[in-house]
Amino acid sequence: MRLDRRQVLQGIAAGSVASIAGASSLLAKAPPRNALAKRPPVKGGRIHDWHLTAMERPARLLGASGPESAVWSYTDDVMPVRRIMLGDTIRVRLENRLREHTSIHWHGVRVPNAMDGVPYLTQPPVQPGESFVYTVTPPDPGTFFIHPHCNESAQTGRGMSGVLIVEGDARSQVDADLVLAYKDWRLATDGTWLAFETPEGASRAGTFGTVRSVNGAGSFQGTVPARGDIRIRLLNLDNTRLIDIGVEGAEAVVIAIDGNAVAPFPLETWRMGPAMRVDLLVRAPKAGAEFQVIDYFSTETWTLATVRTSAPAAPSRPFDPDLLYEAVVPRADLRKAERMSFTFSASSGSLADAAGQLAPDDPLAKILLDGLCVRDTAFWAINKASWSAGAHRTLPPPLGLLKAGQSYVFELMNATPHPHPIHLHGHTFEVLSVSRLARPRHLADTVLLQPKERVEIAFVAEEGNWMFHCHVLEHLEFGMMGYLRVES
Ligand code: C2O
Ligand code: CU
Repeated sequence: MRLDRRQVLQGIAAGSVASIAGASSLLAKAPPRNALAKRPPVKGGRIHDWHLTAMERPARLLGASGPESAVWSYTDDVMPVRRIMLGDTIRVRLENRLREHTSIHWHGVRVPNAMDGVPYLTQPPVQPGESFVYTVTPPDPGTFFIHPHCNESAQTGRGMSGVLIVEGDARSQVDADLVLAYKDWRLATDGTWLAFETPEGASRAGTFGTVRSVNGAGSFQGTVPARGDIRIRLLNLDNTRLIDIGVEGAEAVVIAIDGNAVAPFPLETWRMGPAMRVDLLVRAPKAGAEFQVIDYFSTETWTLATVRTSAPAAPSRPFDPDLLYEAVVPRADLRKAERMSFTFSASSGSLADAAGQLAPDDPLAKILLDGLCVRDTAFWAINKASWSAGAHRTLPPPLGLLKAGQSYVFELMNATPHPHPIHLHGHTFEVLSVSRLARPRHLADTVLLQPKERVEIAFVAEEGNWMFHCHVLEHLEFGMMGYLRVES
């Protein structure tokens, strides 16, 4: 079985969408589908007041009898999961009790620019002892997450992340809704942190963790009703690692990508770079049986989750993969779209001391002087510009100047031998075409660029300054980051 999966995986890597859309007994049994149902209008929601305190908290990440590690987190849970309903507003007071500044970025949530959580670009950094209030009314349902946006390798590496689920996208109730947030820890055996950044890692595929985990510690073990419909929300929250997700012991269908409903298709394996999410619908097996969620990426497979089934079984009903309503996001007009092209590459040349050439009160000078937000070395670039490098007075200039309300098609080219999950803040884009992986057209906020791959995405520009970067954290820290300026 495992060998078959790996063969399938290789087939998918080289093959076409047709191989993904191949027959599945689950789908064959399901009634014929046209399109996903339209979502009913959103009702006015509740207000949630959350207090998140960024601070160091001891936690046993190496097992209950292992040593303590100095985790940095937002809550007493290492990996908090919060659920709200579509239409609800969250008012988050972020209190910073760390020794360095921080912020919260709402990854994948289409927030107003001022709430996007990027120090200097959209807000002042939240200094130690300070707080900041984020008011966010997510316009879309789905599976999202939060994280800081400077010194990300170390802050996220030590734990700073959380899962945000916006409910209200399902036509019916499932029998269980499981969250699997995948993340490695870079720990020595005594529980202390190893360096989060290494020159070898930062200049290649990234520095890998030493201990794998789901939802903070170990792998996930759970029990669900036999023959139930199980929704699995899978997030790759690692700094670096790619995973190839498959399910064994049950049939699984992909129902959403980065929180956006997609016409369901059978899961063979699904490659996820850091920050990418996928929602699955699984029909659980009979009582006493179990199924697993497995990562096939490395030669040693790793089991993220083992899910057992228990009696009483869920009421028997035909499997309906059309669980979700259609996603409602602005769609680009492809005939009128303006085209822009971005090449992701290694950096070239040496770096100038840009900060010295800026006026001291220039906010950009502050970015360049703030070692938490830039490095003095760059290994990577977007269109030959490295985030930390440069020599102009107005550095760093935007990677592109866009017009609000206008449709764009971006061509993304990977000129490196390493994969890069590329993320655009504040927008949900449509992935129009990919050249290396078999993927249907879908909506996303992060798209994986395989080595030498060419991908096209389309979206309608929203006003603001929006970061655009690789989500391998060492890649963004070492140059593969920039921003787009969208003006009205
Ligand atoms: Cu999760 Cu700038 O992104
Ligand atoms: Cu990258």
